Amino acid sequence: MTAGHPAAVGEGRLDRWLEQLASFNADAASGGVTREVYGPEYRAACGYVAGLMEEAGLDVREDSFGNLYGSWEGSDPDASRVLTGSHFDTTLNAGKYDGSLGVLGAIDAVSRLRAANLAPRRGIDVVAFAGEEPRFGLGCIGSRAAVGELTREDLDRLCDRNGVSLASALRGAGLDPDRLAEAELEAGRHGAFVELHIEQGATLETAGVAVGVVTHIAAPHDVRVTLCGAAMHAGATPMRLRHDALAGAAEAMVELERLAATSASGTTVATVGVLRARPGAINVIPGEVEMDVDVRDSDEAVRTQVVEDFLAETAAIAARRGLALAHELIARHAPAACDPPIVDAARRACADLGIEYLELASGAYHDAMVLSSRMPMGMIFVPSAGGISHSPLEYTDPGDMSRGVAVLARALAHLAA
Ligand code: HGY
Ligand code: MN
Ligand code: MN
Repeated sequence: MTAGHPAAVGEGRLDRWLEQLASFNADAASGGVTREVYGPEYRAACGYVAGLMEEAGLDVREDSFGNLYGSWEGSDPDASRVLTGSHFDTTLNAGKYDGSLGVLGAIDAVSRLRAANLAPRRGIDVVAFAGEEPRFGLGCIGSRAAVGELTREDLDRLCDRNGVSLASALRGAGLDPDRLAEAELEAGRHGAFVELHIEQGATLETAGVAVGVVTHIAAPHDVRVTLCGAAMHAGATPMRLRHDALAGAAEAMVELERLAATSASGTTVATVGVLRARPGAINVIPGEVEMDVDVRDSDEAVRTQVVEDFLAETAAIAARRGLALAHELIARHAPAACDPPIVDAARRACADLGIEYLELASGAYHDAMVLSSRMPMGMIFVPSAGGISHSPLEYTDPGDMSRGVAVLARALAHLAA
């Protein structure tokens, strides 16, 4: 196809779809978008996205875990298929582009390719994976179900911040947790996965480059740390007699920040995004604290060292303060390298369209990270204004989105040939 191919999309349609999808929002008053997987707003959004897939001429099906697929048959039914997509569930008080651009952009790209009468040899499947955001503590549950990484026991074990198990959330959404196994993709059915996504960092914007070709994806090693001290009277207890669990947690968090900032790789990031102090009254010394710790790096050995050092430092802090320490694993995923055939298809697509690109790592994790255990994968990034994401201020310029969709469409055409 020559440059200026009809797959080089015009602006407008995609923005309208994103605005419409953002209206399925459980907490509009917050200023951001909250659409957690399996919630009522999410289920309503499933109907909207399925409708867009149908309008694009795709055969739509929802699997037993709530993953949504839109299929376009190729001329060779025995050839392995190409998979593209992302997620449209959100974290709390989020933006309207994270994940959603990868689903709606894939629908837009396929719709353009069909309008240009592309006749792919390989079938192309657009997917919206359920639950990329960690409502139940673990991220990418839909893609993990698709690659057979979740067990039926996980569905009872994993719970959200209100104690709702994944299994009961599935039932509440009209799905059957006992049919989990049906969501696993047939081995070998797909030979490639490519995901369009906002960068969620500032590398592309800082470099002034419109498109990113991802080389590898950093991954999380997450632990839940519990510190137990003594709940006592805030007024009547002298400082030297205290076993303040929250003060201990605060000291541990500063240590975590130092360990990440000074790690051997220079690319480690660490966050405590969830902290629960009990009993939570102003006049009671916190007797118990639970903190969810997220440590990431594309260098797995360094990441492991930071987690181990953090836990050792926290044990020393607990001993000094007379606190009991417990910790449990929440998630641990190997960083994933993107595969040359997919990276090359993205590079070629940019070259075909005369679009400058930058190769970069992804600090955020994505469904592509999970898919890498089953098929060659790669990602195409578009800039995030100010590097802001997981925030109502998340924004990507429509022209950048159009370029990203055009590159995706061209890469799909290469991969499906
Ligand atoms: O946390 C992440 O990296 C992803 O946005 N869920
Ligand atoms: Mn996200
Ligand atoms: Mn995402």
